[in-house]
Amino acid sequence: MVVDYQVMDDDVSRRMQESCKNAMAPPEIKLLPSNCVVPANFLNYEQRIRDMDVRPDDVWVCSFPKCGTTWTQEMVWLLGNNISFSGAKSLELYKRFPFLDFTGLWPENCTDIPDSISFIENLPSPRFIKSHLPPSLLPKQLFIVNPKIIYVHRNPKDAAVSYFHHFQLWNNYTGTLDEFLEAFVEDKLVFSPFWEHVLSFWELKGRENVLISSFEEMKHQDLSKVLKKTADFLGVTYTEEQEIEILDHLSFKSMKNNPMVNFENDIKEIGKENMAFIRNGEVEGWKKEMTPEIAEKFDIWTKEKLNESDFPSYLNKHIN
Ligand code: A3P
Repeated sequence: MVVDYQVMDDDVSRRMQESCKNAMAPPEIKLLPSNCVVPANFLNYEQRIRDMDVRPDDVWVCSFPKCGTTWTQEMVWLLGNNISFSGAKSLELYKRFPFLDFTGLWPENCTDIPDSISFIENLPSPRFIKSHLPPSLLPKQLFIVNPKIIYVHRNPKDAAVSYFHHFQLWNNYTGTLDEFLEAFVEDKLVFSPFWEHVLSFWELKGRENVLISSFEEMKHQDLSKVLKKTADFLGVTYTEEQEIEILDHLSFKSMKNNPMVNFENDIKEIGKENMAFIRNGEVEGWKKEMTPEIAEKFDIWTKEKLNESDFPSYLNKHIN
């Protein structure tokens, strides 16, 4: 089946496409009716993803990009694998916990995993799967088989600034931060629209198989609480000693220096050693990089999008 889509040929989208040439995932088309922005190549994979078999013991981590996906994945993988630090240190996270949508974004660069969908289809159970797709583009069986899904969100201002640095690292983005942030609030980046993404998972809260977390909960409040709630959700227990080790393993410093999660080999390969995937890991780091004018645009956009929603975060705590 051919899905309906719109080519993104407005000025902001064109500028974004020109600013990330010869690299991963230019924002080229908007799939309908979700409005999810993807590169045109994704059309070759969309149906295969929708038709994929889902297993009851799969564990899915879903998010909008840059919201703490990797951090959550590493925590979930440890909890789901007998807290095996040796296992976690012997294989890169992207092979332990593959990214379903990856081939649809960047097919020519998947040397280790030439087809992320087949790779996942051939994994033994239990599988650990990452995706940035909104629910309507995920496998249909996900909402019939109901495996465990953990969704993590983050203040969009921090996610947007982090996404800018991500685009500079992986997408050879040459535009300015302001142009990038404008495209973010105009919902013109890959996996946009941000709030529709968050709210479509937020609607699933309360389902037994869905857990919702946030970057802020993990960072600002208490990682040990998020660890406990995630372990309870997965039906896993750990000792006090293991808790100390897990928290140390998941600390910003450890993750930043851990080659199994920080992509340092890929970063070396592309000659960008001056940049990092695990960058600052801050809450409200946006304040150092975003102009007050753009911050105000984010606030107006957020207020509009959350108008009818009971989504609690950010409006009171992080926006004003
Ligand atoms: P920054 O770019 O703001 O530093 P994702 O995995 O969804 O791509 O998210 C990446 C963001 O999570 C990056 O944010 C990264 O630094 C942050 N991150 C990853 N591990 C972290 C940790 N252990 N503690 C704090 N932040 C972490």
